[in-house]
Amino acid sequence: MKLDLSHTKPFLDNAVVNNIESRISETYKTVFDKTGAGNDFLGWVNLPSEIDESLLADIEKTAAELRKKSDIFVVVGIGGSYLGARAVIEALQNHFAPLTGEKPLVVYAGHNMSEDYLIDLMAILDKKDYSLAVISKSGTTTEPAIAFRILKQHIINKYGEQEAASRIVAITDKAKGALKQLANVKGYKTYIVPDDVGGRFSVLTPVGLLPIAVAGIDIRKLVAGAIEMEKLCKAQPNMENPVSQYAVVRHALYLKGLTNEIMVNYEPRLVYFSEWWKQLYGESHGKQHKGIFPASVTFSTDLHSMGQYIQDGLRNLFETVISVENANHELRIPTESDDLDQLNYIAGKRISEVNHKAELGTVLAHEDGGVPNIRIVIPEISAKVLGELIYFFEMACALSGYMLEVNPFDQPGVEAYKKNMFALLGKKGFETQTATLNQRLGI
Ligand code: PA5
Repeated sequence: MKLDLSHTKPFLDNAVVNNIESRISETYKTVFDKTGAGNDFLGWVNLPSEIDESLLADIEKTAAELRKKSDIFVVVGIGGSYLGARAVIEALQNHFAPLTGEKPLVVYAGHNMSEDYLIDLMAILDKKDYSLAVISKSGTTTEPAIAFRILKQHIINKYGEQEAASRIVAITDKAKGALKQLANVKGYKTYIVPDDVGGRFSVLTPVGLLPIAVAGIDIRKLVAGAIEMEKLCKAQPNMENPVSQYAVVRHALYLKGLTNEIMVNYEPRLVYFSEWWKQLYGESHGKQHKGIFPASVTFSTDLHSMGQYIQDGLRNLFETVISVENANHELRIPTESDDLDQLNYIAGKRISEVNHKAELGTVLAHEDGGVPNIRIVIPEISAKVLGELIYFFEMACALSGYMLEVNPFDQPGVEAYKKNMFALLGKKGFETQTATLNQRLGI
């Protein structure tokens, strides 16, 4: 991967950049020596190189068994317990996976509380063979817990207790939480989420690896990519390293008041990669009224919806473009003798070439419009490159968090809505707030 920062230069204040750069080795040291805030959640740092061979083999074996007996594989989880898997699977599977007939199709539940969504899902599951993974580190998160209660009954009704148990895998904490107790009682196959790896950093644990393997993706290549990036960060904890360059530049832009970072892709298969990145950065940095707001767009699609704002709206934005050098297939624009649509000027060119020119034209236009562009250039979208990107963004996230002087590994703000929801639902222990909340809502 290459980092192109040339389209940020006109916006950067050298003194500010130099000041952040001068502290980069120290910032790495805070991560590697575990001396910073949230230091009990740094298990992801050595995770790629320390993944046990026996764990990988076990995941592959379980995945092969589930693949054999499933038309559909349901991943039940929310936030960090599903976004990493979905990011990788959607980046590597056919764009029209549901229509190809390839099995198993991975679908998701427990990431919303939509009654209609679950009804539609079960109507499909009635007619298909399926298995599922229920993933929750805490083992108590409401959304996946509800979906799992419903789907557990569905799968038992369909296959009976014993066969259903062989079709359910639970991925959770080694001891805590209702899900662990439930899995023990029911005899489900269980994988452990390490104590020192938070949800949004857990894609390279069974949380991400099992669903990715069930989707038929080579998890060893994903891990190999992450190992390369891990080695690079450890060998060069300095400004030679693209991770540092990204973290430094985005922090320098933030200090200039550019408080919104838009992750841009030109390949629709990267939409969920941006969703994973948004959670990673939003949940890690949005604290103490600080942090860059992470947003995302898919171009050129969104140039026809968000392009106007980015070009010409409030100037508090910068973009990080994932630029893919090589498409996986080749498709050229045909020549037509009558040229009625006036496209012969690009006849013979590959679509990816046109896409690339749109990207370069947009980078320059947005730079001219006052929007700095960071470009992360990757050779192709493959398991190995995604593994590199995952570690790249995880390490940059930790460095950025320490530059902001927040704890990048907690998420105290996520509790606020939960407390209100529990009080409104009358959950034991939350009764005292119920009346006040009902009054505020006029109910
Ligand atoms: O990154 C995080 O810690 C969160 O986004 C969690 O992954 C998310 O809230 C789901 O939590 P759990 O896995 O405990 O169900």
